[in-house]
Formats: sequence, C-alpha cells, structure tokens
Amino acid sequence: MAEIKAIVYESNTGFTKDYAELLSSIIKVPAIPVIDNSMIFDKREAVIFLGWVCAGKINGLRMARLKYNPMIIAAVGMTPMSDKYAFTLAQQNNIDVPFYYLQGGLHRERLKGFYKLMFRMVSRPILRKAEKGKSQLSENEQQMVSLIKNGGSFVCRENLEELIKKYEETKAMLKMA
Ligand SMILES: Cc1cc2nc3c(=O)[nH]c(=O)nc-3n(C[C@H](O)[C@H](O)[C@H](O)COP(=O)(O)O)c2cc1C
Repeated sequence: MAEIKAIVYESNTGFTKDYAELLSSIIKVPAIPVIDNSMIFDKREAVIFLGWVCAGKINGLRMARLKYNPMIIAAVGMTPMSDKYAFTLAQQNNIDVPFYYLQGGLHRERLKGFYKLMFRMVSRPILRKAEKGKSQLSENEQQMVSLIKNGGSFVCRENLEELIKKYEETKAMLKMA
C-alpha cells in the first residue's frame, strides 16, 4: 500500500524543524532533514516536504524533488500568513501539489555567515521604510519590523490544521489506490 512515509524538511535556524517535529508528533510520521540518508526508502517515496523561504525560494525543495515525491509542500517564512503570499510562493517555486505557507519566526542571533549577510540586505528596504515612521508601514510590515528587531516565533499547531486535513485526505486516497 502506498503511503506518506516521512516528513522531510530543510531548516536553517530551527523554525521549520519545529513545525516538522510538531507535525510528526500529531500525525505520527517520522520527520527527517532532507539531507539525511539514514532511512532507506525506495526511490521517490511519497513525503510531506517543509522548507524555509529565502528571498522567495523554498530551500531544500530541489533536493526533496530529486530524492522523494513531495505530495504536500509547506514553506516557512517570516511574512505573516495570507493566501496572496502563499499563491506568490507557489508560483515562484513551480508548485503543482497542495501547498501551504506557514509563518515561522526570526532569531537574528541564529543567522551565520552568508545568510546573515544576505538577511541584512533583504531586510534593509523595510527597515529603511520603518525609519520614516510607523504610519508608512502596513500592519503586516509593522509585524515584520518587530520580528526583525525583537525576534520571535509564530510556530503553533493551529497554523498546521489545514495541512493536517489535507494529509488525512491524501492518506485515505492512497489507501484506496
Ligand atoms: C537570507 C534570508 C532571506 C529570507 N527571505 C525571506 C523571504 O523572502 N520571505 C519570508 O517570508 N521570509 C524570509 N526569510 C525569513 C525566514 O524564512 C524565516 O526566518 C524562517 O522562519 C526561517 O526558518 P528556519 O528557522 O527553519 O530556517 C529570510 C531569511 C533569511 C536569513
């Protein structure tokens, strides 16, 4: 019987890993990093993939597609959750399976090397805008500026509810196939 064998993830500072482990504890499917080769699978086994967003790109997705068959994909970023952002990410990353965008968080002190430098560049425009006054920013932008300055996590079970529903549907569908 075909089934979703694992939750595969790519995480840089831990938020995507937190989501993957939370999801694993709920649906009782093991969570493994995409680079992990310790679980021996047949080629391109069905999995759920979770990856963090880096300048609009879902990191780890390319490798996940090469190694597995991601039947459900989720992206984790610092942008507040909205259908509009989810749609943009799905388009930019050529996603044609059920897709969810989840707000993760930010801990600047966990950023190292290249990503630290890159983050300084990608966050500059919004921080510049913030310097001109709070009134210049939308609610979402205000939340992101606060996250950049103070850090924080939005990881919670509630954000996973829709993905869990889709997993249950997919599981039932695979059982029938
Ligand atoms: C270099 C860099 C670029 C980022 N670009 C985006 C982005 O385009 N959109 C977004 O929502 N978040 C972006 N983020 C924020 C991360 O996606 C967010 O902190 C996420 O929770 C990180 O997950 P992780 O802890 O699993 O690595 C970026 C972070 C870094 C360091």
